[in-house]
Amino acid sequence: MPILTWTKENSVGVKEIDLQHQKMFSIINDLYDSMVVFKAHEGIDEVIESLVDYADFHFKTEEKYFEKFDYEEKEVHEAIHQEYRDEVKRLTEKKGEGVGVEVSYDIFDFLQKWWVGHINFEDKKYTECFNSHGLS
Ligand SMILES: [Fe+2]
Repeated sequence: MPILTWTKENSVGVKEIDLQHQKMFSIINDLYDSMVVFKAHEGIDEVIESLVDYADFHFKTEEKYFEKFDYEEKEVHEAIHQEYRDEVKRLTEKKGEGVGVEVSYDIFDFLQKWWVGHINFEDKKYTECFNSHGLS
């Protein structure tokens, strides 16, 4: 059972971004399966790396459009992306210290709440701006 399921209620009205959010959910689900369901600690570093890299790629996509469309909440939104990077770094470093499975739960708790909240409350604010510049 995946911990995150993308539904059309999570749509930000921009196809390219929706697809990236779906991919992000699927990476988080893969990580959850390998860490929590299968307790397979090998290969975890690679999955964490793809979690970090894909989020970076995704944030850069959004930030490219913020710049291009002169989005009014650009700075606030970019600062939120940076807070996310810092928190993931903190949580995964704790894991690196071998604190164990409870750290894994902290990561998932954070990831799940962050992505759902961010998409529904922050990302949806740019829909009107992006759509009005012809991006949908
Ligand atoms: Fe965002």
